[in-house]
Amino acid sequence: MKHVRKAVIPAAGLGTRFLPATKTVPKEMLPIVDRPTLLYIVEEAARAGVEDIILVAGRNKTAIEDFFDCSYELQDKLAKDGKTEWVEMLLGIQNMANVISIRQKQALGLGHAVHCARPIAGDEPFAVLLGDEIMISAPGRRTVTEQLSGVYAATGLSTVAIMEVPEKDVSKYGIVGGAMREDGVIKIETVVEKPSPPQAPSRFALPGRYVFTSAIFQYLEKTKPGKNGEIQLTDAMVELAKNHGLLGAPFEARRYDAGDKFGYLQANIEMGLEHPDVAPRLREYLKSLAQRI
Ligand code: G1P
Repeated sequence: MKHVRKAVIPAAGLGTRFLPATKTVPKEMLPIVDRPTLLYIVEEAARAGVEDIILVAGRNKTAIEDFFDCSYELQDKLAKDGKTEWVEMLLGIQNMANVISIRQKQALGLGHAVHCARPIAGDEPFAVLLGDEIMISAPGRRTVTEQLSGVYAATGLSTVAIMEVPEKDVSKYGIVGGAMREDGVIKIETVVEKPSPPQAPSRFALPGRYVFTSAIFQYLEKTKPGKNGEIQLTDAMVELAKNHGLLGAPFEARRYDAGDKFGYLQANIEMGLEHPDVAPRLREYLKSLAQRI
């Protein structure tokens, strides 16, 4: 069985939820404290052994490619100023993974975006990480992509992350249905994109982390526009489950919905409380603020 060496990161969205900031800055580059959200995602994949990041980007996303490139003038200046730690940090980002970019020329949906990666993914298994969701594993623990790759390595089956959500939230996610094993893994039989609560097959939602075998592509190719007129990844997953098997695995990690203004602020505050440069002051500030509001 092949090791998961490639990861697809769809990044073609217009970022309308963060306008006006995203008029010129790709939403993937908005920082959580001092690191762009995308860096958390690429780091998660790299820690799982992913070597090639396939960025499915739209127009105006060159800032993302530049971010993972060498910034010669900056590195040279920092080196001359004796800031070796900074230079090493920048080199670490530059060498984290090969970033290969392919264009999604029309925003036809997530399923279409993943299908755009086909010429680069080839017949290898690959991970998909949605950039809106930031997953932070406890120190020394496996990243979510690593956890999914582990299930794939043990079973040979495509495996996606699942999490239980309250009934009122099922309409925000793809929801899976199937039989749950004793270890909490679901053998997925159906997937419904953003169902109303009565239509939901369960309360187990897809938080945006997937490991697929290349079999998914033959179904993506045939998938017609579904919910909201978009080519849905979840519709292709139904066929994959039926014909090849698909597992839903619970995971261990803190999760932030950084694609939402509230989730983004939450991530900034909580990551700030762990950042050595600002944590003590932020903690004091939040305590005093809590007494005032
Ligand atoms: C997408 C997927 C959905 C998944 C969600 C996770 O929806 O279509 O199945 O649950 O991401 O964030 P979006 O939020 O992009 O509309």
